[in-house]
Amino acid sequence: MQTDAMRVLIGNTVRPEQDGTVGKGDLKALYDAPSTPWLRVNMVSTLDGAVTGESGRSGAISNDIDRRVFELLRELADVVLVGAGTARIEGYRPADRPIVVVSRSGRVPERLRGVEPGRVILATCQHAPELAEARRLLPPGDLLVLGSHRVDLRAMRRRLEERGFRHLLCEGGPHLLRDLLDEGVVDELDATVVPRLVSGLHPRVTDGPPIDVPLRLKTLLEERGTLLGRWFV
Ligand SMILES: NC(=O)c1ccc[n+]([C@@H]2O[C@H](COP(=O)([O-])OP(=O)(O)OC[C@H]3O[C@@H](n4cnc5c(N)ncnc54)[C@H](OP(=O)(O)O)[C@@H]3O)[C@@H](O)[C@H]2O)c1
Repeated sequence: MQTDAMRVLIGNTVRPEQDGTVGKGDLKALYDAPSTPWLRVNMVSTLDGAVTGESGRSGAISNDIDRRVFELLRELADVVLVGAGTARIEGYRPADRPIVVVSRSGRVPERLRGVEPGRVILATCQHAPELAEARRLLPPGDLLVLGSHRVDLRAMRRRLEERGFRHLLCEGGPHLLRDLLDEGVVDELDATVVPRLVSGLHPRVTDGPPIDVPLRLKTLLEERGTLLGRWFV
């Protein structure tokens, strides 16, 4: 049965006396990190697995329930990680949390240039074709050169933790999520499934060479047919 109120379908309610309905303050507690440092990835898809809609962006498939959780997870995060492809396509701008852009090419997305130190960090590698330009655009402390031909994502996580970031949130995209999973860097996947079918050709939550990563379902929330899963890796 579909409901208008958010409720817990699987997992513990925040207050034992509750009927599973999620109150306003409860959502935050439902997304508490069990320990720190903790790295979670948040993505939205349709029931047929598309992570983009007609516009080629996630905004075309997201809804108000997904946006509520998206904003909450940002609020809970010390730092936001994003693949350069997503930063470019979704037009990422500086936010109230530092943004780490992961890029093999070393290209700093246009809209993330010229900001104060510490707000945009680029994680790239020694052979990145645009490394020299990145060095010109970013202060040395905001450029992480990790690995020779590819970004060492484990080292990236370590370096971010050393900077004091305890709650790390990655907002995709599919190639970055696949690589983070492959390198064992992810603790949690927060996957919103919206009750829509779009067909067509769209990327899925992960993209790239095959991987096989088992997940454990921690919590499943529902509101108006939208399912919000918290999966632990
Ligand atoms: N529904 C959702 O929740 C959601 C979330 C995010 C994105 N999206 C959608 O996904 C699409 C983009 O997909 P995508 O797979 O191309 O996104 P992506 O993973 O963010 O971007 C791929 C690019 O990011 C960089 N990158 C990714 N993994 C890397 C790694 N391990 N090491 C170094 N650089 C790495 C590379 O940038 P360089 O080219 O600079 O080397 C690569 O070309 C967009 O349409 C976006 O709207 C949807």
